[in-house]
Amino acid sequence: MDNSTRRQFGRTVLAGAAASITGKLLAQGQETACAPPTGEVIEFVIPTNLKNIQRKPISALNQNEINRLRLGYQKLRDLSASDPTDPRGWLQQANVHCWQCGGSGTDIHSSWKFLPWHRAFLYFHERILCKLLNDNTFRLPYWSWDDKSTRSLPAIYRSASINGKSNSLYDEHRSTDAAKGSSMPASIFPQDSNPMNAGNFASFGGSDGHAGSLEDGPHGAVHNWTGSNDDQSSDMGNLWLAGRDPVFFAHHCNIDRLWAEWNRRNPVAHANPTDGSFLGLSFNFFDENKQLVNIKVQDVLDTAPLGFSYPPGAKLAKTKIPKWTQLTYDTGTHLLQLPQTIRARVIAPSVIAVQRSLVVEQVVLPMKSGTYNVFVGEPPAAGADQSTASNYLGYIGLIVSPHMHDHKCSLVLNATTEFLQRAGNGGAMLTFAAAGTTKGERLEFSTAYLTEE
Ligand code: C2O
Repeated sequence: MDNSTRRQFGRTVLAGAAASITGKLLAQGQETACAPPTGEVIEFVIPTNLKNIQRKPISALNQNEINRLRLGYQKLRDLSASDPTDPRGWLQQANVHCWQCGGSGTDIHSSWKFLPWHRAFLYFHERILCKLLNDNTFRLPYWSWDDKSTRSLPAIYRSASINGKSNSLYDEHRSTDAAKGSSMPASIFPQDSNPMNAGNFASFGGSDGHAGSLEDGPHGAVHNWTGSNDDQSSDMGNLWLAGRDPVFFAHHCNIDRLWAEWNRRNPVAHANPTDGSFLGLSFNFFDENKQLVNIKVQDVLDTAPLGFSYPPGAKLAKTKIPKWTQLTYDTGTHLLQLPQTIRARVIAPSVIAVQRSLVVEQVVLPMKSGTYNVFVGEPPAAGADQSTASNYLGYIGLIVSPHMHDHKCSLVLNATTEFLQRAGNGGAMLTFAAAGTTKGERLEFSTAYLTEE
């Protein structure tokens, strides 16, 4: 697709109603790019010859590893140019993501398919890079934006050329902030209202019918920050184009690592779902030999047999089971209240450090990509940095795909003193506002819990 087509494609999506997008897209000849492949599919078999090698943060790559990464992406791009039909080539790889979010495939976003589908995608992408590099020890690096010292777009992805040759990691369709190496706002990965504090899989990674707080939090926020969701021709800011930015793979490698890390921190409470309806979900990908392969969720839950793992994070594993208390929600007044049984204990100043989060389920989401701040009570007046306001509880980082409707998520918010005081004395109303605006709307959700660890 040349630039004018892709821009047109972007504008069509901007203007079109969700339901008509696929039609317009097909009319523009996008069907080959964005339709899932057909043909003979074989069952995935766990490889027996893969060494378990740790994926590394980009900031820890040495010069040889950087050169090898660049060479790998150059080979993908060369293959795409020499044989556009090869499913291992760059644009075809980017379109694998497009099948599932703007093309005619099922959408794997906004539900519990999100984490395992992207893990499997990265696995096959890595196998293809190993094959092209003729090096079975190559592993994808991750962009560790959860660490505040590496919260700008990594320098190796930024320059258009290196020593007079084009940089295979570069993409021109990025936001100005990402392109110039600015740092993301600290509120993108806060201490408190953080998906890593989610006390069960549904609030972390989603369920059959809704997204988890990792997807509709930092995942969406980093997409939008890198790609600028105001620009419909940017890559990272639009799900159906995101795979065209090489940093997409490094971003998702970090998402994947955070999943593994969240599992590791509390092997009991942070277990993956064991329902057959989750384990048996399956997806198709092309492998390194251009063979279409069907892989099941149960095949990707343990990463070691797939040849990769991650360095464990600094904090020791937590093994305590968080205590969940459902809050009282009056659907007439829309006020949340602390039940009598915990009220006195929770609003008294605590001497023991307790990690308290407010988990809100089935939050009804807007249909426009962006960051939405969540508050108890009215959003603060214009001009204030909303994320430092005393009634700020956290944010929704939303990147919507054209197929989405009835889009819902779980949110893990900070159970601040102000929230607890209001919920303990009369009741607390939750609102949200698009970042930078003061027009708050009431947050609609089904249930809310206080979790304590
Ligand atoms: Cu499939 Cu980051 O989106």
